[in-house]
Amino acid sequence: MDKILIIGACGQLGTELTQRLRELKGTENVIASDLRDEPIKLIADGPYEKLDIMDKDAFHAILGRYNIKQVYHLAAVLSAKGEQNPQFAWKLNMESLLLVLEAGRDRLNKIYWPSSIAVFGPDTPKENTPQNTVMSPNTVYGISKLAGERWCEYYFEKYGVDVRSLRYPGLIGYKALPGGGTTDYAVDIFHKAIAGDDYECFLSENTMLPMMYMDDAVKATIDLMETDAANVKVRSSYNLAAMSFTPKEIASEIQKHYPDFKITYKPDFRQKIADSWPGSIDDSAARNNWGWQHNFGLKELTNTMIANLKDTIVFD
Ligand code: NAD
Ligand code: SER
Repeated sequence: MDKILIIGACGQLGTELTQRLRELKGTENVIASDLRDEPIKLIADGPYEKLDIMDKDAFHAILGRYNIKQVYHLAAVLSAKGEQNPQFAWKLNMESLLLVLEAGRDRLNKIYWPSSIAVFGPDTPKENTPQNTVMSPNTVYGISKLAGERWCEYYFEKYGVDVRSLRYPGLIGYKALPGGGTTDYAVDIFHKAIAGDDYECFLSENTMLPMMYMDDAVKATIDLMETDAANVKVRSSYNLAAMSFTPKEIASEIQKHYPDFKITYKPDFRQKIADSWPGSIDDSAARNNWGWQHNFGLKELTNTMIANLKDTIVFD
């Protein structure tokens, strides 16, 4: 059993991926790591290391101490936060990936690194965006993810590093809060609705974006990492899709549960980012190469988010 290190395990994706991998691989085989001194409660059941991935010595010390053979490198600055400090976003997103890829040359069996729909840009076809198409990202986040994809393919081709990647759409889950992306509204809106509050959306009502429920994202990640290397025909990053909706559409789905829920729209700087991204994604390569299938559409997502958040939010 390969020992696994998850970098950025306390984040929105990392929390749920750590939980699932521990269920599948055994708690002791999945080492969570993040900047925090202590893990968040949801992943406090197993091994945890405080790690700043920019610290190469500390990273290698952990690889050695646990004899780590697989790394899931999730730490990154996301799209909206990245625009506040582009130099830092580039530094973290790029240098940390190169550190992990270098370790892959002699110490690791497999690496997972997520990309994003942010690799696409205003010149990319908006509907059913193909796997291979015009890429013209205009955020530092998107530029770093596109460069990262090229590095992943380079390390695979040149050094045989088995690195695998998915271009996630906006991820929506109830266990952890999102960390500074443009799609975060689709999580925030549920918290407001369930608390009985109105929601002021930072995107306009008809902004269509690709989205995915967290269970599907975790499933896709593990499916890709578990499939035979021969099935992984895309070594940059796979398009991945489940559903697309607008703020108006998700609000009206929520109103089926909370008829008094109200949404208003006050687009901010994130509107321009959203406008540069696709409305829907062609993920047929993932479906054909390694059997990707999603389980959650908008209705299932809404039902599940509301059912679970109702149980976890404590009202005064
Ligand atoms: P997040 O911001 O919620 O979590 C990132 C985690 O990384 C945080 O816990 C943070 O403390 C940690 N981190 C930051 N800097 C670090 C460092 N120097 N060393 C170690 N840890 C550090 O992000 P997320 O939403 O969980 O995203 C995880 C990955 O998935 C990212 O690479 C992101 O680009 C990608 N992704 C996410 C989405 C989404 O909608 N959430 C969509 C597409 C791609
Ligand atoms: N959900 C992410 C973001 O909005 C997409 O990578 O930044």
